[in-house]
Amino acid sequence: MSTMKAVIPAAGLGTRFLPATKAMPKEMLPVVDKPAIQYVVEEAVAAGIHDVLVIIGRNKNAISDHFDAVPELEVRLQEKGDHGRLARVMKSSELADIHFVRQGEPKGLGHAVLRARTHVGDSSFAVLLGDDLVDERDPLLTEMIAAHERTGAAVVALMPVDPRQIHLYGVADVAPGERDGAVRVRGLVEKPSAEEAPSDLAIIGRYVLPAAVFDVLEQTAPGKGGEIQLTDALQQLATDPDGPGVVGVVFHGRRYDTGDRADYIKAIVQLAVDREDLGAELRPWLRDFASDL
Ligand code: G1P
Repeated sequence: MSTMKAVIPAAGLGTRFLPATKAMPKEMLPVVDKPAIQYVVEEAVAAGIHDVLVIIGRNKNAISDHFDAVPELEVRLQEKGDHGRLARVMKSSELADIHFVRQGEPKGLGHAVLRARTHVGDSSFAVLLGDDLVDERDPLLTEMIAAHERTGAAVVALMPVDPRQIHLYGVADVAPGERDGAVRVRGLVEKPSAEEAPSDLAIIGRYVLPAAVFDVLEQTAPGKGGEIQLTDALQQLATDPDGPGVVGVVFHGRRYDTGDRADYIKAIVQLAVDREDLGAELRPWLRDFASDL
């Protein structure tokens, strides 16, 4: 078991999903039958992490309730002999040690990560963004932790992205031809236009960071969108000749984007057809449905 801690920023406003997110945080939107954030916590646990700090905003009590025990519900399911559901309900409250801190003002991802400083202390830590779900069969985070332990560098997960989508991501400058395994990152740009993008390798929401990033974040001025950007702090680390630099792990596995409505629906369908309890019913129905489109 690792002593590394994970940080999950979850203080966004979820505007793209309004009105569903008017009273409920977007991290609690169900993906099949689990809230999105539970997949992310399970991914951290699968990589050996057992201490998770969630950075929350206003109206985020549903997240802490979800990871809490619900004794009256557990007793009811026990009495009914519904052991399957009981186990699923209890799982979320027994997964990990989950802590919460409020972001206060929403001043960007870099600012949210800086709020983890007191909890994380001087150790390296992982950051997982809830808009990206990584398939449990493709253990990306484990590979990133190994790359960090080998190099001491800040590690980001990279994926090739269509030029039409590149402006939605932080983009890495890597040497031409570097596309596999762990690659040296020479620089990073937050949400460039397709013309300005240094490559097609976008940061997907997984990071393993040295505690030194906190000092850099303290000094990072607001960037794109007037927000304090984690990408800008990493650009600083990548270009510091005296530091351990930034490494990218290029991911070719299954990743589900839940950040906007169409991608969210695609993620649910992709995950549901692979499920043992749902796939057999859904696959023929989907074929039939699609043939009528
Ligand atoms: C954030 C980061 C961006 C990264 C993306 C991954 O952007 O700022 O660098 O590529 O997450 O999902 P956001 O999607 O929060 O706008």
